[in-house]
Amino acid sequence: MEIRTIGEEDIIPWTAAVGIGFLRVPDDTKENREKRIEHWRERADFARTRGAFDGGRCVGTFRSFATGLTVPGGAIVPASAITNVTVSPTHRRQGLLTKMMGLDLADAAARGESVAILIAAEYRIYGRFGFGVATEYQKFTLDTLRTDFAPDAPVEAGARIELATPEEVAEVGPPLHEEFRRQRAGAIERTAMWWQMYTGLAPSPMSPTPPRFHAVYRDPSGKVAGLVGYRTDDHWDEFVPKVTLTVDSLIALTPAAEIALWRFCANVDYVNRVEGADRSPDELLPLLVQDPRAITTQSRRDFVWARILDAPAAFSARTYGARDRLVVEVHDDLGYAAGRFAIDGAAEQARCVPTGDPADLALDASTLGALYLGAGSPVRLAVTGRISERTPGAAERAEALLRTPREPWCPDWF
Ligand SMILES: CC(C)(COP(=O)(O)OP(=O)(O)OC[C@H]1O[C@@H](n2cnc3c(N)ncnc32)[C@H](O)[C@@H]1OP(=O)(O)O)[C@@H](O)C(=O)NCCC(=O)NCCS
Repeated sequence: MEIRTIGEEDIIPWTAAVGIGFLRVPDDTKENREKRIEHWRERADFARTRGAFDGGRCVGTFRSFATGLTVPGGAIVPASAITNVTVSPTHRRQGLLTKMMGLDLADAAARGESVAILIAAEYRIYGRFGFGVATEYQKFTLDTLRTDFAPDAPVEAGARIELATPEEVAEVGPPLHEEFRRQRAGAIERTAMWWQMYTGLAPSPMSPTPPRFHAVYRDPSGKVAGLVGYRTDDHWDEFVPKVTLTVDSLIALTPAAEIALWRFCANVDYVNRVEGADRSPDELLPLLVQDPRAITTQSRRDFVWARILDAPAAFSARTYGARDRLVVEVHDDLGYAAGRFAIDGAAEQARCVPTGDPADLALDASTLGALYLGAGSPVRLAVTGRISERTPGAAERAEALLRTPREPWCPDWF
């Protein structure tokens, strides 16, 4: 068995193995093979794309890419985003994932990426590697027939909504998102290629873009301050339209832009149900309607998992909710985040440094990752035994220090 980084000549077997891992029968037509080569030549960073090969056959895949992760306070830290993780059913549970993960995390740490992130297909895969749930998402539906927007919801006179073509979205989307992501801990970069795939201008040959509508919100000055992408089904019951509009993505710079785009979606003719697929756990929408029971949350689950590779760098980059100094002792089987660190939430310049001082709290690397972006509750983690309090009251102090008023949210699958 050989585990190695891949080259262009491996694209076909490597992408076929990704398909097999995710139970998608590979498309072996000449046309699709050519498209896959063209697409992955541009998309993959081969120096951080690995395959496990048994004889000549690719039976395991693992890829990471460099991105920036927004942390509380708006700084962007260098992060390694892990994706395309598969091991073929013939080779599962023989340690291939463990080996590929070990190699990739070591490379990321050596490059100076202070955190690794991923989205887990199954909950029980990644905790053992020091990843913890750092952001959540919710999926909800809005019954538009029962939706009156609150009269005092923020509105900007002179703003307007325009439908946009994929080409227009590819132009106005990137600067909007650059501004948006600085406001939201948990967000990551969207590359030019991301926009090409999202708009369908250059779809992925492995997961084609569904056809969707786009609308932009222009504030009274004409600046694009919000963008929504949505799909509709064509469901009619006899002559009664009962269409569901699914919001694939909605980002906004201001509450006024956000509410205007939801209002727009809810008012599209024929639509009686709006579905929000990957929304933030603390969505504003329930506070913007007269009857919040028109909104039903279908699920709220883990989304981005974070693994701290460099605790001083990661925790010095974010801001804190209290002027306090807390010493945490981290147990980390892989070593990257092991040690005792003082997190100092000084307003001027927050810092995290190794220390020999006695610890206030002890926790493992996975729990440290879960607390990084401000979502996890140290108090709940302490009462359930995931954090041990070494000085009385330390969990409550950690709650005030680490937790953020808005929940972190990553709007994007990767
Ligand atoms: C998840 C997957 C990559 C694991 O690969 P693998 O090579 O079998 O993993 P390893 O052999 O290195 O497993 C290491 C440990 O994790 C455990 N583990 C791995 N996958 C697990 C899962 N899905 N659920 C629970 N435990 C899991 C193993 O049992 C093993 O535990 P042990 O050391 O106590 O025996 C593989 O099962 C797979 O491809 N699944 C389908 C696609 C998928 O879900 N990919 C992940 C996308 S985020």
